[in-house]
Amino acid sequence: HQTNVRDALTRPLKDLRISLTDRCNFRCKYCMPKEIFGKDYPFLSDEETLTIDEIVRVTTILSELGVHKVRLTGGEPILRRDLPDIVRAVSDIPGIDDIAVTTNGSMLTERRAIALKEAGLRRITVSLDALDDTIFKAMNDVGFPVARVLTAIDTALSAGLAPVKVNMVVRKGMNESQVLPMAERFRDSGVILRFIEYMDVGNSNGWQMNDVVPAADIYRMIDDKYSLIPVEPNTPGDVAERFAYADGAGEIGIIHSVTNPFCRGCSRLRLTASGELFTCLFGTHGTPIRHLLRNGTTDEALRALFAGLWRGRRDRYSEERSSETIQRPRVEMSRIGG
Ligand code: GTP
Ligand code: 5AD
Ligand code: SF4
Ligand code: SF4
Repeated sequence: HQTNVRDALTRPLKDLRISLTDRCNFRCKYCMPKEIFGKDYPFLSDEETLTIDEIVRVTTILSELGVHKVRLTGGEPILRRDLPDIVRAVSDIPGIDDIAVTTNGSMLTERRAIALKEAGLRRITVSLDALDDTIFKAMNDVGFPVARVLTAIDTALSAGLAPVKVNMVVRKGMNESQVLPMAERFRDSGVILRFIEYMDVGNSNGWQMNDVVPAADIYRMIDDKYSLIPVEPNTPGDVAERFAYADGAGEIGIIHSVTNPFCRGCSRLRLTASGELFTCLFGTHGTPIRHLLRNGTTDEALRALFAGLWRGRRDRYSEERSSETIQRPRVEMSRIGG
């Protein structure tokens, strides 16, 4: 059966973002700074991580409550060796019509890209913050070269994982010089490049409002040289504002969660690798469900719990962001998956 639940602000539940692991081979300073995510960091054990069957069960129940779009994230989701199996199982769930993966691309070999495609993945998003090798290496903080991510993007295109999107988090003083070079690199390539305002996710990246390059500035940097025209959103509630190049060289997106929040249309629920549900990216705590998945709780009881959680939801963190809210404890990006 299918019921579409709405939250306390009448927003429907439509998307599920699943973090498959809290681990990553990068140490991006804005996400998993080395000083905090070091050798002794208590990452989840295998036992603490949801299994494919548990993920499928939760997603199936949520699909009955309205979820039709699933995004698999991390940490780095390709670290999960069963990723193609997860893709296949999730895309087989009735009602799931869109499934995507967000990856840093470092492990996206041709073999893996083809396996994902064959498993039913249609599209993929690769994160890349700069074209300049020195800047990119400083941002991922493990010395990973740009060239290998560019190869991964080409691999994704060749495997037919379309559209391929590229996510660039723009952080003042680090990579705003890369906005135009990135735009030029991906114009006319079939890739949709999205610029993301650096957000105050978690408490470990030392975020300050001053570090944000506003969407309007990003827009201007590109539009000054290549005229842009607005494009209607694919789906209401999408996070990216779309623009097409007037000369027909494709499209870009700008994700302005800081300067122009989009909580009003937020239909996203998040599941962490350890089995906690979060109703907001900036949540202080989640609702743990792993023990319920392991103690014989019925599907009916889980459905009632999930529906109740969504119905009670009032989150609108980005619309309320202030000097007070940024003091609150918030879940880390690598745990919640962005
Ligand atoms: P598409 O389905 O391709 O539009 O994907 P997406 O943009 O929803 O997902 P992606 O993983 O590429 O995320 C892009 C950026 O948007 C990341 O920085 C996310 O953290 C951010 N983002 C996604 N959902 C939300 C949200 O609900 N709130 C906020 N504040 N940011 C979000
Ligand atoms: N602000 C904005 N985007 C972020 N991401 C990771 N940390 C942040 C942050 N603090 C991005 C990643 C990835 C996406 C899922 O979220 O680069 O592309
Ligand atoms: Fe890893 Fe992505 Fe976080 Fe960078 S932003 S540390 S690639 S999960
Ligand atoms: Fe949704 Fe929270 Fe992001 Fe607002 S801040 S769009 S409520 S996840």
